[in-house]
Amino acid sequence: MQVDLAQAIALIKRGEVVAIPTETVYGLAADARNEGALKQIFAIKQRPTNNPLIVHLASSEQVLDWATVFPPLAQKLAAAFWPGPLTIVLPAKESVSSILRAGEPTVALRVPAHQIAQQVLQQTGLGLAAPSANKYTQLSPTTAQHVANGLGNSVPVLDGGACQVGIESTIVAIDGDQWQLLRLGMISEAQVASVVGVQSKLPTLQDDKPLPKVPGQHLLHYSPKTPVELFASRAALLQAAENADCAALLLGEGKIASGKTFNLPNEPVSFAEQLYDTLHQMDALAVAILLIEAPPRQPEWLAIHDRLTRASRKLN
Ligand code: TXA
Ligand code: MG
Repeated sequence: MQVDLAQAIALIKRGEVVAIPTETVYGLAADARNEGALKQIFAIKQRPTNNPLIVHLASSEQVLDWATVFPPLAQKLAAAFWPGPLTIVLPAKESVSSILRAGEPTVALRVPAHQIAQQVLQQTGLGLAAPSANKYTQLSPTTAQHVANGLGNSVPVLDGGACQVGIESTIVAIDGDQWQLLRLGMISEAQVASVVGVQSKLPTLQDDKPLPKVPGQHLLHYSPKTPVELFASRAALLQAAENADCAALLLGEGKIASGKTFNLPNEPVSFAEQLYDTLHQMDALAVAILLIEAPPRQPEWLAIHDRLTRASRKLN
């Protein structure tokens, strides 16, 4: 159900849940201090209660309403990347609902850049809990239509067009003067490191080693319903496509012999922007398997690699 800005604001103030656009993906937003509303978010997403939510704020001036400290490292990151696709995890004030933080002693905070998200934040005057507006483990939505397709028509959606970043925010935990990357995003680890200027306390992504544990992060996050296979070589993909009931996603030009081919730019920023929409379209074809050409293993592609690897993971 589509709602306009005024309706979205009124619903959120009343303790209801509304899907809103952000620059990364659509979020399922509600008053982060209203436990009834928080429970509704978990129910709509069918999300386990051990997976905490991010609080979205209008500006960094509100950080100390939620966190006990705003250390210099976090302030530097906020100055460099907020508003924008970065989430900072800090020690939580006791007043922050334990439903929201899933019992963790920390709280995740983000100041989004999207103009409509900003209007909702400023005009409600609230901190908004907002996980991605999809069912648990499924693909995140980057359009209002994706939200409706995934969650059904009873969830109110504020349409702000297609999200420009296209994948979820980078998450960094700050503990005093140390930091740790918890989720890759389009703000790279190198960009974070250049701003904070100190070593991260734990290693992050090295080839296929998993990232440090993020509460509730599930191996099958970001998965289309159709099985996905990732190919390091174009030749191997083309071979697998022969006689298969498949669709393919290629980097740059090219096509498979039979079955639908999707081509995304061989450039990480545009690729990320279009990735989830392309995966949603591929999923809708109801073929047996989606074949995806893996991007190069270069730093600017790491977040995309992370999402594609998760999308292609099997249960066993
Ligand atoms: O780009 C984004 O971050 C989007 C938009 C809507 O802002 N939101 C999003 O939320 O991706 P969600 O809930 O789908 O993913 C948030 C991740 C989860 O994996 C959760 O475990 C982690 O953030 N997280 C939340 N609170 C945390 C905390 N206190 N400590 C560590 N990780 C936390
Ligand atoms: Mg999510």
